[in-house]
Amino acid sequence: MHSIVTTDDGSHSLYEEQLNEQYHSKNGAINESNHVFIQAGLRFTNNHFSSIHILEIGLGTGLNAILTLKENASINKSIQYDALEPFPIKEEIVTKLNYVSLLGIEFEPAFKKIHSCVWEKDIALRPNFYFKKKLNKLEKWEGDKNYNLIYFDAFSPSTQPELWTKTIFEKLNGLLLNNGSLVTYCAKGEVKRQLKAAGFVVESLPGPLGKREMIRAIKSDKN
Ligand SMILES: C[S@@+](CC[C@H](N)C(=O)[O-])C[C@H]1O[C@@H](n2cnc3c(N)ncnc32)[C@H](O)[C@@H]1O
Repeated sequence: MHSIVTTDDGSHSLYEEQLNEQYHSKNGAINESNHVFIQAGLRFTNNHFSSIHILEIGLGTGLNAILTLKENASINKSIQYDALEPFPIKEEIVTKLNYVSLLGIEFEPAFKKIHSCVWEKDIALRPNFYFKKKLNKLEKWEGDKNYNLIYFDAFSPSTQPELWTKTIFEKLNGLLLNNGSLVTYCAKGEVKRQLKAAGFVVESLPGPLGKREMIRAIKSDKN
């Protein structure tokens, strides 16, 4: 069961009752997503690759996807965005989220498509931006090694410990091209250790409002 909550920057997030967990920081959903995924992830990746293949774990509200589309108006790269989501949110919730009113009404058609489009099919949100969603759990899904960037936006390690393990990070490392990176809002020491054990070079970066740090983990052949 989801309920909508308003975070401190005015943008919505979801509260998942069964898990007792919120989808984003209470200090600002848009602020957090922009900081962790767009600034530390997409802008960094933009400096290293001529086209960008993104994997998101999990799609949820679609906020990261729509912010990536927005940012691509500036960086103008060819982007393929794949998102895993085993527990899609209901349409009645999607229609109440306030992202389009905050980001610009021009994003309404794309935001609607992200949620209403069929699964497992590439959908053009713009001529240089293709989106595909996959109704699957990360643990079960088998992908190909062709990603430049992973948005690791799972629920926290205390709620979903099975997704923050060396085994899962080895799987994600195997999906990245060399110099590709994984970004996440979490900066726990144990997560850094598991990422290092899985072969990543781990960077601690300043976190979004209210958090000291976040993680960017880079795949390097030299490691
Ligand atoms: C912290 S929320 C973030 C969602 C989204 N990125 C957003 O900004 O709204 C975590 C998401 O991971 C999804 N999820 C849960 N278990 C998963 C799994 N095993 N594999 C992939 N995604 C999962 C949840 O349903 C939820 O949408």
